[in-house]
Amino acid sequence: MNRQDAVNAFEAYVSVFDLNDGMMKLKHEHSYRVADLCAEFAKSLSADEDLAYRIGLVHDIGRFEQARKYHSFLDYQTMDHGDFGAALLKENDYVLNYADPNEADIMIQAVRNHNKYAVEEGLNETALLYARILRDADKTDILYLRGCHSYDSILKIDRDAIEHGTVSPYVYSEAMQYHVIISSKRVTKLDRVVSMACLVYDMNWTYGIKTALENHYIEKLFDLYDYQNAEEKQQIKDIREHVLNYMKMRLQEAE
Ligand SMILES: [Fe+2]
Repeated sequence: MNRQDAVNAFEAYVSVFDLNDGMMKLKHEHSYRVADLCAEFAKSLSADEDLAYRIGLVHDIGRFEQARKYHSFLDYQTMDHGDFGAALLKENDYVLNYADPNEADIMIQAVRNHNKYAVEEGLNETALLYARILRDADKTDILYLRGCHSYDSILKIDRDAIEHGTVSPYVYSEAMQYHVIISSKRVTKLDRVVSMACLVYDMNWTYGIKTALENHYIEKLFDLYDYQNAEEKQQIKDIREHVLNYMKMRLQEAE
């Protein structure tokens, strides 16, 4: 299966959606960046770059229907877009537009697992490898995106609530314990910002961490807002330092 055939199939799939819509456009572009990152990470791991690229390309195929139906990307309030994407690929072997028969299950499992808190048990070694490559690539691009001003207008993030808010005790404590935040447990708008930074805690390899550090994704994410009260200023300072130290520690460990 070559990349171009997969790209053609993907473009045919998305062509029925309004790609001028901000949410759709965001995911369309994200899909290609994640595909590139997957290929790059796979290369570093001596894995199949081409398969990784195609997995990255289709990983958010469930997002388009989610955006059309709900105008929201909050899985816990709408639908699980990883499960939806995996089911879509499975139906009538649609996956064979993107994968050879021996790659089909690897692709479906990676898509199903990419948005979960943790990868499900029981995946074989190869499936687990690609599921992890995808999870790291996806998180790397999410961090890049969250540092862009344009993103919060698309997701209608309430800047005022963030700037006058605080981090909830649960999220603060999880962030300081190097835990990824469970989306449904976020309480305040500021929790969402913090939960993005905490994605680095779940990175399997240091490629994504290195990219995020070199490009200052964490700093850009936190610097987007002008925090108004002393408590939240301190919270953000603590978490920001904690996350950055964690990233530097991971890189040192990997050397
Ligand atoms: Fe996704």
